[in-house]
Amino acid sequence: MSHNTIAINQQRQPLDHLESVWLFGYGSLIYKADFPYLQRRPARIQGWQRRFWQGSHDHRGTPQAPGRVATLVEAAGATCDGMAYEVTPDVFAHLDHREKNGYLRIATRFDWLDQEGSVEGLVYIAGPDNEAYLGAATATEIAQHIARSQGPSGPNSEYLLKLADALRELGEHDEHVFAIEAELRKILA
Ligand code: SIN
Repeated sequence: MSHNTIAINQQRQPLDHLESVWLFGYGSLIYKADFPYLQRRPARIQGWQRRFWQGSHDHRGTPQAPGRVATLVEAAGATCDGMAYEVTPDVFAHLDHREKNGYLRIATRFDWLDQEGSVEGLVYIAGPDNEAYLGAATATEIAQHIARSQGPSGPNSEYLLKLADALRELGEHDEHVFAIEAELRKILA
């Protein structure tokens, strides 16, 4: 699959007939909401874990030197906390462009963290079949990769450190992210 997913997302999942759509964010979408939204609430999805296994050609790296950013990987019994946004369908023109580097919109159910109940919504996931996928590496290797990468949206380290701070604010203990953060802070010191 090509790493530019704009056309694929728009063709296979038209949203214009809907009044609003819930979107679950687990990476930069937690701390960088550069789009209008109707509501924003902390939420949790089941059966997925956050991993810095996706290459970034357009935000935190370049096609020649991709950075490393978050995607979700299926894992039975795992949970992933993040931030959900209720948006109008026109906002997906911006979101699809922002998440175009390998991310497909997947329909999923997420549970609220601040009250009982759940909602059906969408989440952007970059799977192993996209051309920008990098896959598993140790926390040290990922931190070294992040430390030397940067792209049009800024240093790759900023992405990781802002996400780690946002997860602490949410009360989410993500061992994968915090292990990379610890290694990265050593390199940057
Ligand atoms: C997300 O945050 O939900 C998707 C990945 C990213 O944009 O960092």
